[in-house]
Amino acid sequence: MDHAVSLALLLVLLVTNVYPSSSAYDFEHCENTVKKWASSSLHSDTKDGHILKDMLFFLHVPRTGGRTYFYCFLKKLYSSSLECPRSYDKLRFDPRKRNCRLLATHDDYSIMSKLARERTSVVTILRNPIDRVFSAYEFSVEVAARFLVHSNLTSATKTSKTVRLKKGVISTLDIWPWKYLVPWMMEDLFARRDARKRNGPPNAYGNDSYNMKEIVMPLHEFINHPVALDIIHNGATFQVAGLTNNSNIWEMHEVRHCVMTHQTLGKYVLEVAKKRLDEMLYVGLTEDHRESATMFANLVGAQVISQLGASNAATESGSVFW
Ligand SMILES: *[C@@H]1O[C@H](CO)[C@@H](O)[C@H](O)[C@H]1NC(C)=O
Ligand SMILES: *[C@@H]1O[C@H](CO)[C@@H](O)[C@H](O)[C@H]1NC(C)=O
Ligand SMILES: *[C@@H]1O[C@H](CO)[C@@H](O)[C@H](O)[C@H]1NC(C)=O
Repeated sequence: MDHAVSLALLLVLLVTNVYPSSSAYDFEHCENTVKKWASSSLHSDTKDGHILKDMLFFLHVPRTGGRTYFYCFLKKLYSSSLECPRSYDKLRFDPRKRNCRLLATHDDYSIMSKLARERTSVVTILRNPIDRVFSAYEFSVEVAARFLVHSNLTSATKTSKTVRLKKGVISTLDIWPWKYLVPWMMEDLFARRDARKRNGPPNAYGNDSYNMKEIVMPLHEFINHPVALDIIHNGATFQVAGLTNNSNIWEMHEVRHCVMTHQTLGKYVLEVAKKRLDEMLYVGLTEDHRESATMFANLVGAQVISQLGASNAATESGSVFW
């Protein structure tokens, strides 16, 4: 057999392995899969939901204002040595490596499978989904536009990689979902700029500042694109349910695929997400910032302070905790 043919066969095999044939996603099979997942998720029983456990997991839904909580509260409450290493970088994240107490990431709920569940408290912040979509669009454009200082896409991509490697810092471009949204938007911005260079600028941009399609991808194009469908649609619900396309558990991708194929199954996802929220130590709302921040301080902050005070005393007297 010639190499090309055997390679093609191998690819077919791989593809069939990864994605079971489409009949595997027929409604009946999917309903069973999703129901099974939902009932196993709903039965997990968490007691003492309002008492802070050893580990605090901040499930950071993108564009909810979570950075404010992270920098103004969590970074002040927990010393850097208590922060789980590379919290925003799934590839290098290994919570068992250290006695870390704080994990803040855009990872979805499925990362709980790597944590000691009964010792972990979860907090999150939610936002009106429509505002979150606008904000995700705006942020993708904003970050991607920073690269327009470069003369072309190749040079922009190359430079940003070099800078990231040199500095060894975690950039927005390494973090889900931005690692997909920003490069996609970058490519688009450069393509539109190249087209303007080729065709010359339009005779007039008009007076409608929302009609900027010569310059930037319109919102409707963004939101109907498969990438947005993968990452932004129902984003918060999927993240709380543990079903984002960034999920840590392979089986979750099957459940996800079923839900994406048969939208009526979404009701089970919503049910699980709501149950998870009920079990969390704290849930804030971007829209009620003042009230949410105050509640965070009183409920989470106060407990962290008394817990860390107590464990410092324990460490000094020689006892070791995980
Ligand atoms: C892209 O820009 C760089 C730096 O300005 C230049 O060296 C390179 O030739 C350009 N590549 C293309 C394909 O235009
Ligand atoms: C923009 O609005 C001004 C004032 O209403 C008008 O005179 C002008 O022709 C408009 N320009 C375009 C390109 O529509
Ligand atoms: C997640 O979505 C992005 C954007 O559509 C895609 O490039 C990526 O391959 C997806 N990841 C998985 C694991 O499906």
